[in-house]
Parts: sequence; structure tokens; C-alpha cells
Amino acid sequence: MKYHIITFGCQMNLSDSERMARLLKRAGGKESSLAEADLVLVNMCSVRQSAVDRVLGLREKLKGKKTVLAGCVLDKDKKNFDFFDKILPVKSLGHYLKIIPLYESKFSAVVPIMTGCNNFCSYCVVPYTRGPEKCRESKDILREITSLVKKGYKEIWLLGQNVNSYKSFPQLLTAIDKISGNFWIRFTSSHPKDFSDKLIYAMKTLKKVTPYLNLPVQAGDNSVLKAMNRPYNIGQYKEAILKVRKEIPNITISTDIIVGFPGETKKQFQNSAKFFNEMGYDMAYISEYSKRAGTKASLLKETVSQEEKKKRKIMLNNILIKTAMQRNRKYVGKTVDVLISKKLKDNAYAGKTREYKDIKVSSSKNIIGKFVKAKVISASSFSLRGKLL
Ligand code: SAM
Ligand code: SF4
Ligand code: F3S
Repeated sequence: MKYHIITFGCQMNLSDSERMARLLKRAGGKESSLAEADLVLVNMCSVRQSAVDRVLGLREKLKGKKTVLAGCVLDKDKKNFDFFDKILPVKSLGHYLKIIPLYESKFSAVVPIMTGCNNFCSYCVVPYTRGPEKCRESKDILREITSLVKKGYKEIWLLGQNVNSYKSFPQLLTAIDKISGNFWIRFTSSHPKDFSDKLIYAMKTLKKVTPYLNLPVQAGDNSVLKAMNRPYNIGQYKEAILKVRKEIPNITISTDIIVGFPGETKKQFQNSAKFFNEMGYDMAYISEYSKRAGTKASLLKETVSQEEKKKRKIMLNNILIKTAMQRNRKYVGKTVDVLISKKLKDNAYAGKTREYKDIKVSSSKNIIGKFVKAKVISASSFSLRGKLL
């Protein structure tokens, strides 16, 4: 049996696909192109309508194949997916995280420490598609990472919708940091409500934990945050950012933010834009609000037009280009540690610095999957150029 997996959505889905690939292989399957496959497994995302539409758009391409739809499937969407032979929503899969993945990369691996979410932000489908938060046993996580490091993996991404609500996340980081070997630890996402001093201390002191933090703010206006059911205010959020920057000055900070939430006035958006500028992010995932059936926000009247959402997104993006440039400029002349991930044209290679900055270098030797040191010679908003040392 030849199989092909199509993955949409976040790193969590990517990790789930790696586990599904292992099951298909165990059953005697062989990975193939979509055209040659007998079985096509689509691991879908429902976070925005555009993600759902991409799966609907596969109808023609999947004709004549055995098909399975998995991942974040909303119950109300199931009827639209009757062109699949089977629907296996992720929340129906039980203890599937026990399956050992067939990892895509040979040097960077994603390791979920939990799945699901209890937060019910008013716009979000994840608590409905993934169900309540379930944490993995720390011994299973440590075993998986130890085996990855032995195989030569250099970067471990710990995943969860809210890693900070893992039993004791700083304690887990400490245990992972003790695993012998040369590797980096990254994690995503952190919810501001559970972001703690203990975590800052762990990030500052544990050698393998890298200085990168994704702290989704979602809105920079207190009434919008309240309507989103995000239980913090911008003052508390700002305090967390100031603290982490004071303790870890070279930290890279990214955020997630939504524009055009129902009822978001021009003034509230301006507050958001001002706050977004003040935080001086390195990176941001800016989304136009998308109404999701079944969520609390879907009951609110949409007041921001599609065109206005686009405008607001562009405005935030323009701020980001400026703040990211300010932050990247500081790297010029400095030496950075880099993990090389890709070969580009000629002798060019791309990778990420320890601070999760994109960087390009040249090398006559194959350095994919290797740690190297580079001196930064130039910077743009979202990328650095370096010279190998
Ligand atoms: N757990 C993370 C957190 O607490 O922010 C986020 C996970 S969510 C799957 C990824 C991002 O998608 C969110 O941070 C949010 O910005 C965006 N998102 C979620 N629902 C959305 C919606 N209905 N419309 C637009 N963007 C949305
Ligand atoms: Fe969605 Fe909020 Fe959970 Fe993040 S914390 S997955 S935004 S409900
Ligand atoms: Fe991820 Fe999309 Fe599910 S963002 S958790 S795959 S709804």
C-alpha cells in the first residue's frame, strides 16, 4: 500500500502526522507522491475558515483514492467532508502520543508534552477540536528526547497549546537540560496568564534552553482581551516582557495577534497597534479574525469588514518590519551560534541562530544539521547574513 500524508496547521499537527506515518509504515505502507498513493491521509486544521477551505479544495484531487481525514475537525464541518472514506478527529484518538513518530527531519524534532486546551479563548476552536488538556508523563517525554539526542538530534521543540500549564514546566525543562548531549531546547506556546518567574529563571540558567519566547498577546486593548476571554491585562503582559528582557537581554520575542475581532473599534485597534509597537517584537503571527462556529465569539456580531481587517493587518505588519529591523540591527558585528537546516543555491546555507533568527551563510563543505559559529555581517528585518568563523 502506498500512502501520502497532507498536513495543514501548526507544529502539533506536524507531530501527529509523524506518528500516523509510523502506523502506516508498520502496517506495511510505503510513502509516495499524491499521484501514486492508494491511501491519502489529510491532517487538517480548523483554526481559520481559510484552513478548512483548503481541505474542501482537495475534493477533485482525491477522487479514486482511499481517503482518511484526521486532525482538528469540527463536528459541524463533518458533513461537508463526506468525500472522505473515514474521519478520525484527533480528540477521538486516545493515547496516541505513545506512538513513536517517524520523524521528518534528521536533526530537529517536535515533541508534544501535552495536547488539548482548557482555556476557551472566545475565538478559538482548539478546545473543541483537541478536547481538554492532557499532559504526557514526563518519563515518556524524557525517554523520547534521550533517544532523539542519541540519534544526533540537535534541536528539540517542546509543544503544547499552553506549555506553562504543564504540571511543572520549569521542572520538566530542568530534567531535559540534564540529558547529556549537545542540543538546543525550544518550546511553544506560552500563555501569558501562566508565565512565571520560575520559568524565566529556568530559561536564564539552563544551558540548553534557547533565548526564544512566543508569548501570544492576541490584542493590545484591555476590553478586547476581556471579550476574547484572555484573563490578563496589557499592564500584566508588559510586566512579563520587561522582566524577561531584563533577565535575558538577548531574548527573541514573538507574539500572536488577531485584528478585526467582533466589536474591535478603530480606537481599540489603535491601542493595539500602539502596544504592539511598544513591545518591539522580533516576530509576530498576525491573523485576521475568522468566525468559528461553536465558539463564544461566533455569537457576536462581526463589525469589522474584510477590507478593514486587511488594512489593520498591513498596519501591524509595517510596525513589525520596523521593530524587527531595530532588533536585528543589534546583531551586526556579533558572533552567533547557528544550527544549519537547509542548503540553498551554490554554497549558500540557511539556518537559525540560538535566538531563533534566520541567518544565511556560505560554506564549501556540507554543513546541514551542524552547529556552526558565524559573525553577523548584515541584517534585514527578518534575516541575518553571516560569515562562518
Ligand atoms: N495556544 C496559543 C495561544 O494561547 O495563543 C495559540 C494557538 S492557536 C492554535 C494559534 C493562533 O491562531 C492563535 O494564537 C491566534 O492568534 C490564531 N487564531 C486562533 N483562532 C483564530 C480565529 N478564530 N481567527 C483568527 N485567528 C485565530
Ligand atoms: Fe486557543 Fe486560547 Fe487554547 Fe491558545 S490558549 S489554543 S488561543 S483556546
Ligand atoms: Fe493546530 Fe490548527 Fe489544530 S493551529 S491545534 S492544527 S486547529
